[in-house]
Amino acid sequence: ALATALEAQLQLREVAGIPLQASTVDNWNQIQNFEAKPDDLLICTYPKSGTTWIQEIVDMIEHNGDVEKCQRAIIQHRHPFIEWARPPQPSARNAKDCMVSYYHFQRMNQMLPDPGTWEEYFETFISGKVGWGSWYDHVKGWWEIKDRYQILFLFYEDIKQDPKHEIQKVMQFMGKNLDETVLDKIVQETSFEKMKENPMVNRSTVPKSILDQSISPFMRKGTVGDWKNHFTVAQNERFNEIYRQKMEGSSIHFTEL
Ligand code: A3P
Repeated sequence: ALATALEAQLQLREVAGIPLQASTVDNWNQIQNFEAKPDDLLICTYPKSGTTWIQEIVDMIEHNGDVEKCQRAIIQHRHPFIEWARPPQPSARNAKDCMVSYYHFQRMNQMLPDPGTWEEYFETFISGKVGWGSWYDHVKGWWEIKDRYQILFLFYEDIKQDPKHEIQKVMQFMGKNLDETVLDKIVQETSFEKMKENPMVNRSTVPKSILDQSISPFMRKGTVGDWKNHFTVAQNERFNEIYRQKMEGSSIHFTEL
């Protein structure tokens, strides 16, 4: 009975057609009624698009590159996820790498449904029946309104290619003015290699019963183009066709598609 109850807990439920974790659905009213203060900063990412990365960058900027201050707590507590609405989470990443990262994440995350085989997951992802909903809707939606509100839209691929330049954009958006040496330090401290070893961001403090890093590490690869190691030629063609349909009318452009 306990196992069944636990499994039921893991089943995603829906709000407005978007699959979400049960605890989020239960607290939906509270989440929906959240009112931001004028100086609140919301990080809006699709899962596996570099949430942790941009969280650490923002915290480092806010604390003027002070590493010790950024070690004060684990990242989940420094920037709690709004959809979990409990006291202790737009950046975009291309859909193909996102799917790969999400697949490995669902393999190791015991709080999310089992992803099944890669072939099965491929279908689940393109149909948008994954936690937090469809990648296409998330990315298209934020892209469409980015100029109407105070939104800084970032691409994972750009941060990867020129971290200093992108971090500078975040800094300006936050109304901060840090000098060159501090910026360089932030670039260094938020590199994949550094963050993989940093217990305050790498989820090593989360119990194995929740995140089993022996299946797949939370800081897995941190690269652009890992989809090429997963997609078959046929899957890639099918994906590109569906992508064209779903993203029709949007001016957004990813370097990886
Ligand atoms: P991979 O699974 O492709 O390695 P999120 O924080 O939204 O869950 O995103 C996780 C993804 O971001 C993982 O991708 C992870 O390795 C990557 N990531 C985390 N920190 C990073 C960094 N400093 N540089 C590059 N990628 C990073």
